[in-house]
Amino acid sequence: MDTRKPHSAAHPPLRAALQAGQRAPSVANTRPWILSDEGDRIALIADTDQRLDTADPQARELLISCGAALYNVRAAMRAEGRTPEVAILPDPDRPGRLAEIAAGRASEPDDEARTHARAIGRRRTHRGLFAADIDDLALVRRLGTAAAAEGATLQPLTTEPLIRCLAGLVSAAEHLHRHEHSHPHQPANRLRTAAPSPDFAAHDFPTDPDGDGSDALFPRRDHGHSRIPGMPDSPGAVTGTLALLTTTEDTRAAWLAAGQALQRVLLAAAAEGVSAAFHTQPLEEPALRAFTTTRLCDGAHPQMILRLGRTLPHTATPTDPPPR
Ligand SMILES: Cc1cc2nc3c(=O)[nH]c(=O)nc-3n(C[C@H](O)[C@H](O)[C@H](O)COP(=O)(O)O)c2cc1C
Repeated sequence: MDTRKPHSAAHPPLRAALQAGQRAPSVANTRPWILSDEGDRIALIADTDQRLDTADPQARELLISCGAALYNVRAAMRAEGRTPEVAILPDPDRPGRLAEIAAGRASEPDDEARTHARAIGRRRTHRGLFAADIDDLALVRRLGTAAAAEGATLQPLTTEPLIRCLAGLVSAAEHLHRHEHSHPHQPANRLRTAAPSPDFAAHDFPTDPDGDGSDALFPRRDHGHSRIPGMPDSPGAVTGTLALLTTTEDTRAAWLAAGQALQRVLLAAAAEGVSAAFHTQPLEEPALRAFTTTRLCDGAHPQMILRLGRTLPHTATPTDPPPR
């Protein structure tokens, strides 16, 4: 049974898990998963109709999104006192069947499970500058541990040249996308912005704070009057901590792992008052992704580009997914 709307007949641990799965982040808010209640287990199925044809031809971002939903299912099940038993890509004849999650043996919920399950409803994608960087190195390390627990690496970028290099790649990707949109012979669905997501503001980023074309996406940390969309004057606003989420493989299983790692990081961050913004456009351009792999990730495969920081309360992006 398709449970985009979780149905009430499900067994309690499954019911909570089904609801939690729906609250994951997804590329362009496409929510490209079907969570199917199969009695003693939940099946996670890719909804390939939601794939962004040209921005995500391999369905890499679709599977990352599904991996994030899978982590929510697991976290909620653990918080309900059941150990999730997960089979990844269980049936080679049905590649769209991404995972099966059974509610295994009863177990006392651990603190992490409770914390993450509580954070599911609080996490929101941030767009714009941050009120403050993550000032706590131990927290950055904890987020790295969260990614590693799912088989991925969270790699903060700390040196100015690398930060500027990545900012340049984001700008380059944005320019390419804009050019293609304005080109009369390009298909209309070249980009994620063509996806039917009324609450997704693809370009709601800080734009050109100095009005001179410089540092459009990553303004200098030290200019006193950064501008956040909707906020004319935001003294002290910062870019946040830039990080890449990488995996050693670049397979469908690795993309699902990256999604679980992403969500584990985001929930651990949300639990400590830290939000994330994403800039995945360069990873949608094969040449820019290849460059990122070799020059910024030491050969590991970049799956997500994030900024992490503390937000101002009134810059939160309301993004509860619309019911389908
Ligand atoms: C694989 C993936 C890629 C994403 N890329 C971007 C991005 O480039 N820019 C952005 O603002 N948000 C990006 N997002 C965030 C989604 O837009 C967001 O999850 C969705 O709109 C739902 O909002 P919420 O996360 O606040 O629930 C991405 C999310 C995922 C899972």
